[in-house]
Amino acid sequence: MRNSYTSRLAKALLASTLVLTAGCTGAALTEPGSSPSPAPPAQTPANGSTGEGSKPADPGTKPSTPANEQPPSAGGAVTPPANSGGGGAIQVIAKPAEIAVLVNKTNKLPENYKPQDLVDPDVPFVFKEKLEKRKMRKEAASALEKLFQGAKDAGLPLAGVSAYRSHATQTALYNNYVKKHGEEEANKFSAKPGQSEHETGLAIDVAGANGKCPAQDCFGATPEAKWLAEHAHEYGFIVRYLKGKESITGYQYEPWHLRYVGVELAKDITKQGVTLEEYISKGVPVSKPKS
Ligand code: DAL
Ligand code: ZN
Repeated sequence: MRNSYTSRLAKALLASTLVLTAGCTGAALTEPGSSPSPAPPAQTPANGSTGEGSKPADPGTKPSTPANEQPPSAGGAVTPPANSGGGGAIQVIAKPAEIAVLVNKTNKLPENYKPQDLVDPDVPFVFKEKLEKRKMRKEAASALEKLFQGAKDAGLPLAGVSAYRSHATQTALYNNYVKKHGEEEANKFSAKPGQSEHETGLAIDVAGANGKCPAQDCFGATPEAKWLAEHAHEYGFIVRYLKGKESITGYQYEPWHLRYVGVELAKDITKQGVTLEEYISKGVPVSKPKS
């Protein structure tokens, strides 16, 4: 059952993109080290809402072929996605509403994509207003409510910081970061419009309910971040941008950025300790060899 599911999933993921344009822009990045991130700037986008991310460590890149161009081969070499310096083709995702959709620097959402089932999860946020960034897709919202309850039961209540963003909001946010930090820096911690998981309604940045370190590097040292790293998968979420995987994801470590992929996938990905890019390019295990 699981094997046929993962087989279908692998096929769906690999078939879900088509090449539209070639070429990436941006400066080449270097392999990340374990250097501590500098003090984070306040991340407030032009529209005044709380944004995402703190100033990054050094994510890196390896010029590569996009993951989705690789046939799945379990245990095969991992081909990281081309990121801002990679010069690889950017593909437009054909099935953006798939729960396991891969959105990154080489797989972007169609220009006019808007998830159709956005709802307000019944969880606290670090702000009071009824804003777009509270929203998530229905399935993810319901899983988020369970995740927040689990954290609360563990004595570590959480608060949402930023979930869904429209294409227009991501555009304003990214442009604001570029203005403030320059394009090369911005590309390390902010997705270009169309390349952000936040536009899928399947991602959310979280913080402790005490409001400490919202979407900032210091969040990584909190018990809430530790709990999330250990338990998010039980609810169908993965910590999407892992420490030490910056050259694969193309982004700095973001212990606060959770991505809903469904329980089965989240468990498998977390158990393997891989990124979504690696999981897909490796090929999802489809069957056990017959003995
Ligand atoms: N910070 C992540 C990469 C985003 O902007 O979606
Ligand atoms: Zn995020």
